Amino acid sequence: MSGFTRCDRTQAWGALKGHFEAHGRDFDVREAFARDPGRFEAFGVEAPEVFADLSKNRIDLATQRFLLDLARECGVEARRDAMFAGAPINTTEGRAVLHAALRAPHNSALGRSLPEVEQVLGAMLAYVETVRDTQASGIRHIVNIGIGGSDLGPQMVVPALDAFAHPGLTLHFVSNVDGHDITPVLRKLKASETLFIIASKTFTTQETLANAMAAKAWFVANGGSDTAKHFVATTTNVKAAADFGITTTFGFWDWVGGRYSLWSAIGLPIALAIGADNFRALLDGAHAMDEHFAHAPASKNLPLLLGLLDVWYRNFHGFTSRSVAPYHQGLKRLPAYLQQLEMESNGKRVDLDGEPLPYATSPVVWGEPGTNGQHAYFQMLHQGTDVIPVEFILVKHPTHGLSDLHGPLLEQLERQHIMLLANGLAQSQALMQGKSTEQAQSEKAPTASKELDALTLARHRTFPGNRPSTTFVLDQLTPRSLGALIALYEHRVFTSGALWGINSFDQWGVELGKALCNDLLPRLATGDVVGLDASTAGLMARLR
Ligand code: F6P
Repeated sequence: MSGFTRCDRTQAWGALKGHFEAHGRDFDVREAFARDPGRFEAFGVEAPEVFADLSKNRIDLATQRFLLDLARECGVEARRDAMFAGAPINTTEGRAVLHAALRAPHNSALGRSLPEVEQVLGAMLAYVETVRDTQASGIRHIVNIGIGGSDLGPQMVVPALDAFAHPGLTLHFVSNVDGHDITPVLRKLKASETLFIIASKTFTTQETLANAMAAKAWFVANGGSDTAKHFVATTTNVKAAADFGITTTFGFWDWVGGRYSLWSAIGLPIALAIGADNFRALLDGAHAMDEHFAHAPASKNLPLLLGLLDVWYRNFHGFTSRSVAPYHQGLKRLPAYLQQLEMESNGKRVDLDGEPLPYATSPVVWGEPGTNGQHAYFQMLHQGTDVIPVEFILVKHPTHGLSDLHGPLLEQLERQHIMLLANGLAQSQALMQGKSTEQAQSEKAPTASKELDALTLARHRTFPGNRPSTTFVLDQLTPRSLGALIALYEHRVFTSGALWGINSFDQWGVELGKALCNDLLPRLATGDVVGLDASTAGLMARLR
């Protein structure tokens, strides 16, 4: 037994069930605002670099009290403290979970500031500055070859912090084993100006090693000579990298989960793009959120409240997904990053004791930059049959002015930023307010229909409203605020995972497919279908 209390075995769970039947199922956010003029203040939470408005959610103070009871009974805080103290809470792999140590300053009690972390970080950032001296290094292009946690973090952060990036360096990301990923990248490059980073925690991942071999073949075929200068590795498996012929390696440790690794050497592409000081600011922002998660009182602890809200929506309201809508183009890869963070962490079906769970775990997380989503799937969010909580991310000040833009163009872009904010605000307002059939009927329909009477048409133009959303507000998207935002998501996922009593830090679900792929690889060459199911055999025959 792992000595945890599963959420469904607490008193609070029973109390929440009763509360849901009495007040939750039919909770109307509009009525809650009408009843309580202080609702925005009551459900606004200040965390480092992030303000969150939770008031448009289907909760009241009683819901929050029961949820906080649930966190207490499940021992979320004790589990959090065990994580920060370096206890082996990743029980199925017998590992500590210490990504917070990667961003803990000297003498920090949190995440056990470790001397080896500063050693690698110092060496990596010193290296970064030599490459960023592009006159001396001659490097103009950096290609990160990695997948999953060795790709998604840097791939998300680099465009997000474009305003802080070295203007003379272009970053590229290759992850897919499909050669159609690497070829268009290679087409743009010269061997003498290119640095390849082979990023793999294990240095055994098939896709990454295959792309690394392709890169090496291209490098040699294109006159590249100094492999030691043009290839570096970021990995826990220094020996495998050396066997591959890479002599410059930045290491990390097994207590850094792949999807929590952008703070480690895996963040090398980020550091190359934004420089040492900005990379340290990213770490500082994350550390500030670690401190908040560790010390803020439960009722104002943002990651804790978000994790509780996720359980409330998933297990009581039965919502199956959550949509993320960043109103900042730089955050275009945030939904993809969050998919791994949340769904690889909490997409589990047994508890810590291996018992099958009688309740749902990870929701589907998905999204696109907000205004683009508005012109695509927001139709479903407003009028579809499913209720999908939406998470809006609004950034008060743009960073256009940090680059060399000026004059009428800068003024126009600042006007566009206000349009962007108005769009984000309007969407959360519309989701909540909705529009009744009577309201729709009283308006003049924009298009007249000869076939449909006024009432039928008004029904098509009715919005049910009461659709929940959370809005995060950042002052500006900077290395520090982005660090805090990412750590906020990490700890929120930790919280819901702790409540569900699952191991959020393993990923056995990816193993079976890998093993079967290894079985099919030689069969695709030989055509051997012995023992295969008829579908796989039939498809294989078509593909050969
Ligand atoms: O897909 C499973 C996974 O192990 C992820 O958890 C990980 O981030 C990714 O593969 C890449 O692994 P590696 O960094 O070892 O190449």
